Amino acid sequence: MKKSRFLKIILFISFLGIFTGCQNPTNNIDQNKKQSEVNKTQDMDTNEKTLVVYFSQTGTTKRLAEYAADILNADIYEIIAAEPYTKEDLAYYTNGRADQEQSDPSVRPQISGEIKNMEEYDRIILGYPIWHSQAPKIIITFLEKYDFSKKTIIPFCTSHSSGIGSSASHLHEYTAPTTTWLEGKRFGGETSKKEIEEFLNNIID
Ligand SMILES: Cc1cc2nc3c(=O)[nH]c(=O)nc-3n(C[C@H](O)[C@H](O)[C@H](O)COP(=O)(O)O)c2cc1C
Repeated sequence: MKKSRFLKIILFISFLGIFTGCQNPTNNIDQNKKQSEVNKTQDMDTNEKTLVVYFSQTGTTKRLAEYAADILNADIYEIIAAEPYTKEDLAYYTNGRADQEQSDPSVRPQISGEIKNMEEYDRIILGYPIWHSQAPKIIITFLEKYDFSKKTIIPFCTSHSSGIGSSASHLHEYTAPTTTWLEGKRFGGETSKKEIEEFLNNIID
């Protein structure tokens, strides 16, 4: 083989080597980047911190909220009225305190105590009983009290027989437009822990 042709072949092989050598690390970086982005998203999902918040006067919502906190290993907070509701207050269709509050749009029953570390939570599971087809007014007090603009809220309610109806969607206007509201569900008094688990599994990815 002529010396010049031999040199050309060597040059061509070197060129191929340089070319492929330049390409592979770039591909690896891209692949690593994609991989780390996926991991980051997964980490973010598993790092979502949940707070279960509930208001309950006869224990039905409380029991389900405790199931949810147990299933998700989440913190739990009870909304307690500054002025406790008596049995008479809760007797509905008597024009008692609860009846009057539900028919007055300006009422905001005060809450006893507060959540000091609300900014730590990404997701709020919000449980309440249905009072005259809506959430009790104290739930609005709660929503107006904190900043939910970067949070996801998952509502659920308990009732004698009414569905969740518009009770959850009516609450949206009391939080920032950037708050993410997921679809809620109504539960009856006989609801099992398994049913709460199914609800949470379906709604939380
Ligand atoms: C003032 C008041 C109004 C209520 N309105 C309704 C209603 O419109 N529909 C319904 O099915 N149950 C209604 N209930 C029943 C409660 O929603 C139900 O008993 C609920 O599960 C109670 O939850 P708790 O034990 O967590 O307080 C009402 C109860 C009260 C005290």
